[in-house]
Amino acid sequence: MQYQTVIIGAGAAGLMCAAQTGPGTLLLDHAKAPGEKIRISGGGRCNFTNLYAAPENFLSANPHFCKSALSRYTQWDFIAQVSEAGIAYHEKTLGQLFCDEKSVQITQMLRTAALSNGADLWLETTLDQVEKTPQGYSLRLTRRGKPLSLACANLVIATGGKSIPKIGATDFGYKIAQQFDLAVTPTRAGLVPLTFSGQVLEDLKAMAGISAPARVSANGASFDEGLLFTHRGLSGPTVLQISSYWNEGDDLRIHFAPDQDIIAALKTQRGISGRITISKALSAHLPAKLAQFLCENAGLSGNLADQNDGDLARLKTSLDALALRPAGTEGYRTAEVTLGGVNTDQLNARTLETKAHKGLYFIGEVVDVTGWLGGYNFQWAWSSAWAAGQAIRQAGQS
Ligand code: FDA
Repeated sequence: MQYQTVIIGAGAAGLMCAAQTGPGTLLLDHAKAPGEKIRISGGGRCNFTNLYAAPENFLSANPHFCKSALSRYTQWDFIAQVSEAGIAYHEKTLGQLFCDEKSVQITQMLRTAALSNGADLWLETTLDQVEKTPQGYSLRLTRRGKPLSLACANLVIATGGKSIPKIGATDFGYKIAQQFDLAVTPTRAGLVPLTFSGQVLEDLKAMAGISAPARVSANGASFDEGLLFTHRGLSGPTVLQISSYWNEGDDLRIHFAPDQDIIAALKTQRGISGRITISKALSAHLPAKLAQFLCENAGLSGNLADQNDGDLARLKTSLDALALRPAGTEGYRTAEVTLGGVNTDQLNARTLETKAHKGLYFIGEVVDVTGWLGGYNFQWAWSSAWAAGQAIRQAGQS
């Protein structure tokens, strides 16, 4: 059996790529349904892109690598495709676009595009062995329990990262890279809740369920969004974002309610009605348990009227620059993405084809390009898949 192109992984990138390559394409996946991550993404509404997507929103050992694909298939191209398919959407916050109804509308749109362009889709199929041949690649597969062999000129690896093994994530793509002597930048969980231990964990646990606006910084990066206290430590958008920049041993710096000058407000109140406890006064600006924790952390007790400027300066440090050292992350079990991946030095940025092996492509999350939280990772999947798909189609036509 012969196909021009075989794409491994019918997730975001694989579906998009198959819609470009068209006839002579086989898209396969070991799962029972395509696009499982699309289905569960964005709380079931898929944050499918971001209005402000730009290369600055991506982490990679080579920050320039993503520029070509992102500029040739942009968020506006995907938005046009979504609009044409009649899928209603809205901006939630910070340019993040979500479906009004269900994520599966995105999967259906891409699946329809792939199949109507002539691609075949095989589910519950695993790739057991790959070999390079003079004509391309020879594959041994198991399809619904039955072994079979086929040959192809182009092999596209779109098996994603390691995040959420429960829904089918594997390290397959990295293993194929190693088989073909391609370097893999070390992988780790990204966009993931951070865990703590010891007394810090006890303090954080006491506030589990509380959220507050916060600016969280680590390693020169900084994000302003919501922070959530959990039973294991910290989560919420601002912590997920910073987790991709955080390395073991680094402190986080937390600035609560960065848009307010709480200390100035407390000083004003001290002159007018200072006969309330300092933590009660602070709780007018922040959740009560957090206010109490910050006052204790600054060593403050008693009434607001009793606090001198030095006391309030200590509270300001606690509010504006709380230093906390995470013990680790929740890992791939809950991470939204995998940082690192197939080293981009070995890929052509315009086509995503490996430089050393004609016809072998890596697209989507398996590549060492990782986006911020907010629709950026899907945009990378669409853009990289489109770039590879177009290159394959054009090579087939020439
Ligand atoms: P993806 O993981 O989508 O697809 C890989 C496919 O390969 C899967 O279908 C898998 O079954 C298959 N596969 C793996 N190993 C295989 C093997 N050995 N044989 C055959 N098939 C194999 N991003 C974003 O921009 N907006 C959002 O709202 C969210 N939300 C979100 C929520 C959650 C809970 C997670 C875990 C992740 C997100 N993301 C996200 C990230 C986003 O889902 C992710 O970056 C893209 O799906 C990556 O697309 P890929 O196609 O590269 O991998």
